[in-house]
Amino acid sequence: MTLPPDAPAAARHERILILDFGSQVTQLIARRLRESGVYCEIWPFNAAPEDRIRAFAPKGVILSGGPASVTEGESPRAPDCIFDMGLPILGICYGQQTMAHQLGGKVEGGHAREFGRAFIDVTGDCAITKGLWAPGSREQVWMSHGDRITELPPGFRVVASSEGAPFALIANDARHYYGTMFHPEVVHTPHGAALLKNFTHLVCGCTGDWTMGAFRAEMIEKIRAQVGKGRVVCGLSGGVDSSVAAVLIHEAIGDQLTCIFVDHGLMRAGEAEQVVSTFRDRFNIRLVHRDASDLFLGQLSGVTDPEAKRKTIGRLFIEVFEEEQNKIGGADFLAQGTLYPDVIESVSATGGPSVTIKSHHNVGGLPEGMRMKLVEPLRELFKDEVRALGRELGIPEAIVGRHPFPGPGLAIRIPGEVTREKADLLRQVDSIYLEEIRAAGLYDAIWQAFAVLLPVRTVGVMGDGRTYDQACALRAVTSTDGMTADVYPFDMGFLTRVSNRIVNEVRGINRVTYDITSKPPGTIEWE
Ligand code: XMP
Repeated sequence: MTLPPDAPAAARHERILILDFGSQVTQLIARRLRESGVYCEIWPFNAAPEDRIRAFAPKGVILSGGPASVTEGESPRAPDCIFDMGLPILGICYGQQTMAHQLGGKVEGGHAREFGRAFIDVTGDCAITKGLWAPGSREQVWMSHGDRITELPPGFRVVASSEGAPFALIANDARHYYGTMFHPEVVHTPHGAALLKNFTHLVCGCTGDWTMGAFRAEMIEKIRAQVGKGRVVCGLSGGVDSSVAAVLIHEAIGDQLTCIFVDHGLMRAGEAEQVVSTFRDRFNIRLVHRDASDLFLGQLSGVTDPEAKRKTIGRLFIEVFEEEQNKIGGADFLAQGTLYPDVIESVSATGGPSVTIKSHHNVGGLPEGMRMKLVEPLRELFKDEVRALGRELGIPEAIVGRHPFPGPGLAIRIPGEVTREKADLLRQVDSIYLEEIRAAGLYDAIWQAFAVLLPVRTVGVMGDGRTYDQACALRAVTSTDGMTADVYPFDMGFLTRVSNRIVNEVRGINRVTYDITSKPPGTIEWE
């Protein structure tokens, strides 16, 4: 098949369609599939008309979980056409129930909710348990449901059950339909990823043709076709997404790309220098490095409100970016490191708009007012795929494996007014903390770790003298997507070592605290 060069990467690969019924963990289904080399997309259940599905030509369909109850009149249904297309189908939790209901089975509510870890007894075998579970074994899974199936639709049989979930795993071998009451996509179902792989590989016949090596080659072709002889600008922040986008685009079009690095003076210690040396010296990318720290810090003077700080930084960033891109004579395209989670259309359980907790500033997402066409080479990828692609492109681990860092930088880690002196002080604290985290081999186990400079002075004693200096807080969290987070449980030995180093080595800090708030109710950043 010959495809136009601007066809989505998906069109060149075997595909699975995931229909979303609003579960909190639908994205994990896609991530597990991608990890096993299968391209997939998540569509809302109600945005999947037959012609769109036929054009997508999936090799199989997965129906996600969701918060609704099949027994309620208005609850969501899978599009009926998928049952007429001869496609393999896997229904998970709500997906299993609506499939059973739509195919003539019975679902009842009002049962005790089963939530969390559970054990199921395997009583039969089928394609998706092949090589994993044998009849007679007892297996750990993760459940989250209230309703359950009470009568199977014709052609189905039970493969595994538990007391609370008599139809924990069901199969209709002839039609290649499977349903699980548990969630195979979460890590608390230890064989979950392998069960999903059996579905995609053994049942749907996928071969695992989605690799970052193949993606790189195709995307380079695609960027060349899109850009032609045009000029592209890209805002570099030193973060993973903009870095990978820049290197990939540079590989495709060389000097037609110029990167603009607006240095607001609020980066971590050594990071601005690292951006310049990596991109200009190592990758030979045309890079404009604008040190705008005086401008940013000047305009932040006297600003204490968190939202006002964010807005000031966002506005200045656009102004400086525009100025720099005018200096180089403008461009036809703006490159952005948009990722797949940013473009997935979401199914809202409530239907209402969500509240803005913080106005995010993201280097890649800013210059809305500029009338340039967009180049977004990462819009089909998850974060872990972007990291894999970055490694494939030879980007140093220090950038590819880096913790997320917010666009407004250290400004939102300095409650109260931001000054150059405070930013310098915070940088010293932060780098000792991160140095110790790295030395202890904990960096990759943590989603984000950073220090916050507190706007309070406290009394201390050092040697024979009294001190009256500033306090700081340390924060470290685990998370999968930044939406929720748990505090990282350092041992006291580690924390006291870091605290001693900070108080001894950083003049001006005499007290260290550890923030143990999870998200919710806290947020990850302090502002
Ligand atoms: P919060 O503080 O809302 O942060 O729990 C969630 C995640 O988002 C990051 N963050 C930002 N990232 N621009 C960004 O690019 C921003 O303005 C911004 N504010 C917060 C934060 O570091 C965490 O990873």
